[in-house]
Amino acid sequence: MGELRLVICGATGQQGGAAVERLLARQRYRLVALTRDAASPKARALAERGVQVEQGDLLDPAALHRIFTGAHGVFGVTQPWSADYKKVDAAGEVQQGKNLIDACVKCSVKHLVLSTAMQLEDKPTGLPHLDSKQDIERHLRATPAPFTLLRPGTFIENIGLPFFAVKRGKLRGFVDSDAKLPFMSAHDVGEAAAVAFDAPDRWLEQTVDLVSDYVSGDDICRALERTHPGQRFRHTCPPRWLMRLFAPEFYKMRVGAEASGRPPFPPPRQARRRPGRHPRDGARVDVSGEVRGQR
Ligand SMILES: NC(=O)c1ccc[n+]([C@@H]2O[C@H](COP(=O)([O-])OP(=O)(O)OC[C@H]3O[C@@H](n4cnc5c(N)ncnc54)[C@H](OP(=O)(O)O)[C@@H]3O)[C@@H](O)[C@H]2O)c1
Repeated sequence: MGELRLVICGATGQQGGAAVERLLARQRYRLVALTRDAASPKARALAERGVQVEQGDLLDPAALHRIFTGAHGVFGVTQPWSADYKKVDAAGEVQQGKNLIDACVKCSVKHLVLSTAMQLEDKPTGLPHLDSKQDIERHLRATPAPFTLLRPGTFIENIGLPFFAVKRGKLRGFVDSDAKLPFMSAHDVGEAAAVAFDAPDRWLEQTVDLVSDYVSGDDICRALERTHPGQRFRHTCPPRWLMRLFAPEFYKMRVGAEASGRPPFPPPRQARRRPGRHPRDGARVDVSGEVRGQR
């Protein structure tokens, strides 16, 4: 294992776990996993693989200061959702993000790779779990922390979860069947993070949208039919009025996703920011290598 010490937040989760995988494979980093429960099976599995496991909470600045001291880099990710994805705590997420960033500054961390979420526009969306990430990004830009921002699209791993269930030939989504969502795998966040740590000269001060492909519910059904020969799949979506009444967050997401999820793809450039004057502004690139406009 190498000498550059990297602290991985969310190491027991999808994105942080993927970052651990991709960084371990490089054999040039000494990894420290941050978890709220060092005795959990996932944390113990990390320890067995040679990752130093440290117990701490993003809501506990003193713990972050202790764990980040001496780190060359930090992979950061915040979590507003409860484990069952039924409750969202946006204020708590903003606090997690601010604590994480402030601890990086205090400990003179040389590279923070922070994963937030793809935004169609950099203005409030009305969606707490996206607006909280905008607040975190604003806080980051106001500090001297050297950063790379990764903004992942929708995770393909969501398919099969309760809000994207696949049951008896039906894929239940939350947008119209023909509207395309910007999909990617949470695993690819790990590789993107590793690429950023490997090449700071290229990736410091960059904000990167991560999208593998724009895919509709109908497209996913055709893909499921290819992987399950002989079976038919149909995409369904709850009526708008029902979502508006009982799942207002998902309804707002639906409206935005349906507006941006129909041709032309990707969303028109004017929806993105024009070149900024901020000296730390960098190019904005997606994983397919397409430059999506400067910030
Ligand atoms: N699902 C999507 O399509 C999508 C797309 C883009 C962005 N996102 C964003 O991705 C983030 C979630 O990432 P993920 O899917 O990798 O999460 P995940 O698999 O649910 O794992 C969450 C991780 O966060 C850690 N964690 C949670 N609260 C913490 C706290 N207070 N202090 C320290 N660690 C804490 C957990 O560690 P312990 O339990 O071990 O402490 C766990 O490792 C969310 O912000 C979500 O909005 C999701």
